[in-house]
Amino acid sequence: MGIEYIHADPADIVQKVSFYGFDIAISVTVLHYAINRAHLEAFFSSTYRLVKPSGLFAALVMNPGFMRFGQRIYNRRYRREPDGRLYVDFFDETGMRCSALYSDFTWADYQESANRTGWKDLTWCPIKVTDEGRNRLGSFWNGFEEDCPYAGFRVMKPPG
Ligand SMILES: C[S@@+](CC[C@H](N)C(=O)[O-])C[C@H]1O[C@@H](n2cnc3c(N)ncnc32)[C@H](O)[C@@H]1O
Repeated sequence: MGIEYIHADPADIVQKVSFYGFDIAISVTVLHYAINRAHLEAFFSSTYRLVKPSGLFAALVMNPGFMRFGQRIYNRRYRREPDGRLYVDFFDETGMRCSALYSDFTWADYQESANRTGWKDLTWCPIKVTDEGRNRLGSFWNGFEEDCPYAGFRVMKPPG
């Protein structure tokens, strides 16, 4: 299909990409894997360089306002440790399968990272269950919109 896949980190993606001027960059559950604020900013700044003026960056991240820590929801459990780290344990029918370590970024961390790298107009977008999803899975979605594990935002690169 003419798709070019590139394996990269914010530190080297700009050198590896052969084309600049994308209309939009999309990041699905990646930014909260950044190990600290500097690393988070590197994701914003490298993306900024690859998107055209008036282009967008849209991301789905761990919801900074999420509340149901310690509870088993869906196939996972989120836990905030006293050292400030945030873990997600994933379960299957046999028990706990693996854990992932996230950074516990705040709304302000995302906002300031966007501001400091040139992005404008950060807008948080609520995650909604579609009618099709509700029809298919019904009560599975109880609590999802009220206390969603994920939050979405978009930012715009200023016009050239
Ligand atoms: C939960 S997966 C999401 C993958 C995909 N976006 C999706 O929705 O299926 C998180 C992804 O973040 C990537 N990731 C984590 N740290 C990264 C880093 N420093 N640079 C680039 N990618 C990273 C991982 O390789 C992994 O593919």
